[in-house]
Amino acid sequence: MSTSAPGRGRFISLEGGEGVGKSTQLRALSKALTERGIDCILTREPGGSAGAEAIRELLLQGEDGRWSIEAEALLFAAARADHVEKTIRPALERGQWVLSDRFVDSSFAYQGEAGGLGVGRVRELHRFATGGFLPDRTLLLSLAEGQERAKARDRDTVDRIGGRAEDFHQGVELAFRALAADEPGRVRLIDASGSEEQVTERLLDAISELLP
Ligand code: TYD
Repeated sequence: MSTSAPGRGRFISLEGGEGVGKSTQLRALSKALTERGIDCILTREPGGSAGAEAIRELLLQGEDGRWSIEAEALLFAAARADHVEKTIRPALERGQWVLSDRFVDSSFAYQGEAGGLGVGRVRELHRFATGGFLPDRTLLLSLAEGQERAKARDRDTVDRIGGRAEDFHQGVELAFRALAADEPGRVRLIDASGSEEQVTERLLDAISELLP
């Protein structure tokens, strides 16, 4: 199901493993869209609304084993339900574009595939939580094997999920690639190597037909 209707804004999510430069690219994309006269807002998951930001703390702090995988998936789905209802849908209805740092594909990859719950069960949760609300386009930033985690490990702060073992993160990356292969219309694989400007150009190319 797509969110778009004439006169409505567009919903774009950025996805990728850790250390691929998502946040930098989100800001650059927002700047490029603003220069084209598009009114856009930036948001993130988990979070993006008051309730979802409160759930974010539960999800990202504490011991790795704090939640079972089922509880973790439910918390992400609850946060997303609030984010969609309070922030994303209202903005789209006002005609704004919404750029989100992560969305449901992260749950498919992290909880569904790498966490072992199964993508099908996460899809069911998503249908219950949001009616199956999906981005108009999902941009999946990807680096060649090795580069990505090396960058992620350099970060000073690693959260409860980011700190999981290497094979978990490899599973996430494979899952993201499988999602791009399964839904090529919505999910586009973007090479995250090269200069920041080059990567931003690739992102703009991947949404070119959505631009007014
Ligand atoms: P965040 O600090 O936003 O990290 P990043 O810079 O990697 O985006 O932390 C979000 C963490 O939560 C990250 O490790 C990915 C994970 N996550 C899931 O496991 N499932 C989800 O549905 C979402 C949205 C995020």
